[in-house]
Order: sequence, then C-alpha cells, then structure tokens
Amino acid sequence: MTDEYVPDISWDQIIKVADDFIKTSSSRNSAFEAVVNLLHASVPYYDWVGIYVLNSKDELLLGPYRGDESPHSTIPVARGVCGAAVREKQTIIVPDVNNDSRYLACSLETKSEIVVPIIAKGAVRGEIDIDSHTIDAFGTADKDFLEAIAVKLSELFR
Ligand code: SME
Repeated sequence: MTDEYVPDISWDQIIKVADDFIKTSSSRNSAFEAVVNLLHASVPYYDWVGIYVLNSKDELLLGPYRGDESPHSTIPVARGVCGAAVREKQTIIVPDVNNDSRYLACSLETKSEIVVPIIAKGAVRGEIDIDSHTIDAFGTADKDFLEAIAVKLSELFR
C-alpha cells in the first residue's frame, strides 16, 4: 500500500500482548485462538487470519481462524501459497492473488495474502496465513511484525 498502516496500538505492543497470551494460555490451541483473534481485531485489513499446523504427512491442517469459512482445511505442502511457504521456509507475500498460479482461493473477496512460517528447532511447524480484501495490502512492516509473532508462536512447539 502507498500509505503504511499505523495501528492504534503499536506493532510492538501487539507483539507484547500476543506474548502474554502465549505464555498464559492453557493449551497450544487456546494460544492460537487468542493470537488469531488479536491479529484480526488489531489490523483492519487483516480480513482473514488463520494458523495452519504441519502434520507428519506433509499436510497443513487449519487450526483457529477468523473470517469466512475456508474450503482449505487441509493443504498438502505441494500445493498453494501456504505449501510454498513451507517448502521455501520463508515468508511469502502475494500482492495480487489473481496473478499467482499457486494461489488456492478461499474467498472471492481476497485480493492479497501473506503467509509466515512458524519455525521451531530449525523446522517449519506451522504458519500464519492472512488474506486481505485490499490489493497489495502487505509490506515490510507486516512481514517484520508477523515474523516476530511467529517467533513467539514457535515457543509452543518446543
Ligand atoms: N490461499 C491459500 C489457501 C488458504 S486460504 O487462503 C484460507 C493458499 O493459496 O495456499
């Protein structure tokens, strides 16, 4: 986006709140739920927010999410932007989903997407997936912010 979004509370404050949730939640899933809700509520252009967890069969299983129901509750790592982020072990930003052949459609309203791997002990264990109804919604600030959140989430896999 041309104008960089500045949240009501700072990115750092959101990271701190997420960290508190992660440290105090009674289970991995309730921590995921709290972080997904926090991200969805904090940033207006984060229209769909979900966490996928990688299983032993090289499939991504959808955990807690906010936004429209997704047809992609299981994604093989060979498929999708989500699978590509696992294979490449790095964040992928898709500025225009209609111009990316890897993209698996979740909602017709989705225009752009960011997928951030959660890496623990050197291996991808899951990922944060965020869709926006705004084209080219995600930039360096979102990448840095969400990678910091992913580092916090990786503590749940130790
Ligand atoms: N767009 C993703 C699929 C997940 S839905 O967006 C929720 C992909 O291409 O892998």
